[in-house]
Amino acid sequence: MSDAGDALAPIETGYDAGGEVSLRPSRLADYVGQREVTENLDISIRAARARGEALDHVLLIGPPGLGKTSLAHILAVEVGAHIHQTSGPVIEKGGDLAAILTSLEPNDVLFIDEIHRLGKTVEEILYPAMEDFRIDLVVGEGASARSINIDVEPFTLVGATTRSGLLTAPLRSRFGSTFRLDFYDHEELASIVRRSADLLKVGLDDEAAFDIARRSRGTPRIANRLLRRLRDYAQVKAAGRITHDVVRDGLGVMGVDEAGFDSMDRLLVTTIIEKFDGGPVGVETLSAAVGEDSGTLEEVYEPYLIREGFLQRTPRGRVATSRAYEHLGVTPSAAQADLFE
Ligand SMILES: Nc1ncnc2c1ncn2[C@@H]1O[C@H](COP(=O)(O)OP(=O)(O)O)[C@@H](O)[C@H]1O
Ligand SMILES: [Mg+2]
Repeated sequence: MSDAGDALAPIETGYDAGGEVSLRPSRLADYVGQREVTENLDISIRAARARGEALDHVLLIGPPGLGKTSLAHILAVEVGAHIHQTSGPVIEKGGDLAAILTSLEPNDVLFIDEIHRLGKTVEEILYPAMEDFRIDLVVGEGASARSINIDVEPFTLVGATTRSGLLTAPLRSRFGSTFRLDFYDHEELASIVRRSADLLKVGLDDEAAFDIARRSRGTPRIANRLLRRLRDYAQVKAAGRITHDVVRDGLGVMGVDEAGFDSMDRLLVTTIIEKFDGGPVGVETLSAAVGEDSGTLEEVYEPYLIREGFLQRTPRGRVATSRAYEHLGVTPSAAQADLFE
């Protein structure tokens, strides 16, 4: 689930990389939901602005599509600074990071996406930069090696990760604040798609906004993606307005199911039911069966399935719930039904 295209959208122009209207909110006031996060950030931003200082470093944790990149851009806009965007795997050498750090202007935001994928030596350059706005570089080798210190301007590091479990303790401890983004409820998703429909200049019935919200896996990026596709469908098939019927028929044609499951959600739940008799099955075994890393299953896929009651984490492993069987149209055996609480 790469969002590179999305992430690189030039927010000033209001268009994304594909020349499409950008749906990314650019101010905190347009950012829907995540109240605890935005209220805290709002206070920090005002305080930093009043003091003329850089905002404290911020770590954003959460599954893909919940608004981490958007929030990083918003922070830069709200503090009135530039944003420099990069990502963990892109910064290969210490020198790459040093070059970025020395190019920053006072109070700029450095956004590092997938920060859990930073290499060890690169990460170690980040520590003094975060703490003291200083870089310690070792130049030369062996007996002639010496260390040089370079000052950098005060900046705000905004780190984003889908996999907080992979973050090292020293890095984590250097962030002034850490926020976990949660899945959005239907009300919030409906308000996001209503705003997006306005930006895309497409008519959207209220009922249809909720129909889309219910099928968006709690995720704004998915809600917006469905909206864009339904706009096409409505234009070709239904006089341009997105109604309840357009959502039902359009998403039916696209193969989006009632719960908005994506292919990994479906594979995960089907595998537990069909290969492991409904569970319980350990996450490592499950990971081998579906061919996805166990940490990604735990931090990216399972949270939504558990929250929506399709999956349970028990001490002996994952169990499919009655809701999962119902959803897939499978009748549980007596033994499987015994696993339900
Ligand atoms: N809180 C929000 N309010 C409105 N739109 C949002 C919000 N969060 C995300 N979006 C929409 O979802 C898209 C994906 O969000 P993004 O910030 O790229 O997620 P992440 O970086 O966490 O993967 C954005 O382009 C934006 O259109
Ligand atoms: Mg992102």
